[in-house]
Amino acid sequence: MTDLHRSIAPLRQALGTVLSGRPEAIELLLLGVLSGGHVLLEDVPGVGKTTLARALAQCFRLKCTRVQFTPDLLPSDILGASVLDPRDGSFRFHPGPVFTNILLADELNRASPRTQSALLEAMNEAQTTLDGTTHTLPSPFLVLATQNPLDSAGTHPLPEAQLDRFTLRFSIGYPSDEAELAMLMARQTRDPLDAVSPVADAEGLVAMQSAVREITVKPAVARYLQRITAETRRHPDLSLGASPRATLRLFRVAQARAFLAGRGFVTPDDVKAVAVPTLAHRLALSPQSRFGGRSTSAVVLSIVERVDVPV
Ligand SMILES: Nc1ncnc2c1ncn2[C@@H]1O[C@H](COP(=O)(O)OP(=O)(O)OP(=O)(O)O)[C@@H](O)[C@H]1O
Ligand SMILES: [Mg+2]
Repeated sequence: MTDLHRSIAPLRQALGTVLSGRPEAIELLLLGVLSGGHVLLEDVPGVGKTTLARALAQCFRLKCTRVQFTPDLLPSDILGASVLDPRDGSFRFHPGPVFTNILLADELNRASPRTQSALLEAMNEAQTTLDGTTHTLPSPFLVLATQNPLDSAGTHPLPEAQLDRFTLRFSIGYPSDEAELAMLMARQTRDPLDAVSPVADAEGLVAMQSAVREITVKPAVARYLQRITAETRRHPDLSLGASPRATLRLFRVAQARAFLAGRGFVTPDDVKAVAVPTLAHRLALSPQSRFGGRSTSAVVLSIVERVDVPV
């Protein structure tokens, strides 16, 4: 644990050089990566999404592939295809861009539902199936998808089953005035992204992910966490509550938060701190509360406030 934890500070530092003034976004990204999950970044253009994904890949010497999702993108453009080899008349599999460590899926909601769903198996099983043959994806495998919250014309909103496969959803947000100024100075002659050097490698990341799974969760804390997701299923403002998959992910993200803090056990505060980014995107508001202007984040917050914290 201590040995693995040692690379956390340099990791935070390296990501901080490319993303000024948004430490919360860096923490959330690290939670997503360490919990072995996929991340949905909901943000406007130009706030550093691609830069952050590239920096993360460099930190762990990972392969990072970017795909711009458009309405005409086909499933085979993501997964790959069997191509006839004219020399011997046999079919050979040509892997698509999904065969990578970090798949940056830009504007995922612009693709047709058919192409979006091509990612479903990859995200849940870390494998793809084509013509009855299963191909295993590299490990670690992380999808970092983006969508623009303002520009919804011509988009296909991600279906619930797709959203449920994202461990965390958050936005990066604008830097403060001072942080933006610091960004200008740091970038006057060079791009800080070029200076990001590795702090670990893919095996190091996999080792950290398994250390996260070893973090102790006391039965009382597990019950607290389960109560929170169960409450979403009976909440009058929600028409769709959290799935058992969501409960599992909340457990894992809380463990990852304890790991980041260098603690060997999960506290109720860990659960509280990650409940909104882990749960809110998986929930659907009932029609009345949608018109009332309520958000699923606000509902999760109210549940977290209400459920008794174990002592
Ligand atoms: N908070 C920040 N700190 C430092 N640099 C930033 C920050 N936000 C954006 N930048 C810089 O702005 C530029 C644009 O960022 P980037 O390409 O990562 O944005 P993006 O969110 O991927 O945009 P798009 O949605 O258009 O793809 C990059 O050079 C990046 O380094
Ligand atoms: Mg980008």
